[in-house]
Amino acid sequence: MSARGHAFGIDIGGSGVKGAAVDLATGELLHERIKIATPRPSTPQAVAEAVAKLVAEAEWSGPVGLTVPAVVLGGVVRTAANIDKGWIGTDARALFSGALGGREVTVLNDADAAGLAEDRYGAAKDFDGLVLLLTFGTGIGSALIHNGTLVPNSELGHLEVGGMETEHRAAASIKDRDGLSYPQWAAAVSTVLIGLENLFWPKVIVAGGGISRDADQWIPLLGNRTPVVPAHLRNTAGIVGAAMAIDSGLAP
Ligand code: BGC
Repeated sequence: MSARGHAFGIDIGGSGVKGAAVDLATGELLHERIKIATPRPSTPQAVAEAVAKLVAEAEWSGPVGLTVPAVVLGGVVRTAANIDKGWIGTDARALFSGALGGREVTVLNDADAAGLAEDRYGAAKDFDGLVLLLTFGTGIGSALIHNGTLVPNSELGHLEVGGMETEHRAAASIKDRDGLSYPQWAAAVSTVLIGLENLFWPKVIVAGGGISRDADQWIPLLGNRTPVVPAHLRNTAGIVGAAMAIDSGLAP
């Protein structure tokens, strides 16, 4: 973090590597986010090169926080559900630090970053107690945050509810794959939310991912008990959460 309370976050997703400097007092980006297409195949080395290019373009010289769509423990990527399998076992912290001239980097799960950002600055900022954030995209990402403290790597997209992994039942990609209408997809999401709320009893569920832009078309159709609110930070939550994680002890 810089002396002015600014930090740099990068969100590594399936289609883009996106980054910006963030004002940690407000959670706002200090400039338009910079986006570089995610290399294909998205091997660790190729992604590290994209990250170095992005940071050079931003002319940022301080520490950097990064998200990856996977379990991260001590900077090491442990899973690869929807990313190149070459990530498993990669020391992402060492890789990115090396690509950025040896500077300090922090790496955490993409949904965990989004959850931190929504909890502090966004849709859940007025809720205390347990906040559950779910991102609906290619898979389902999850973040559990209790009074500002993250329980990292919750991976609820892989929890079985009704005999099926939640992300196989209700990711946004399933809606596209099966040509589901919003009512049909909302029924699948309800099954998942009821399963999760009966286990975790959150105060609020924040719905993120691109499909949260159409929240008015499906959140009113949900049949679960816990209030569901759309994410506020939309496509900046990962960047903001990654920036928050630097130096904060929030990353696993
Ligand atoms: C991965 C998670 C990730 C989520 C969203 C899941 O398949 O296992 O680590 O947060 O997708 O990208």
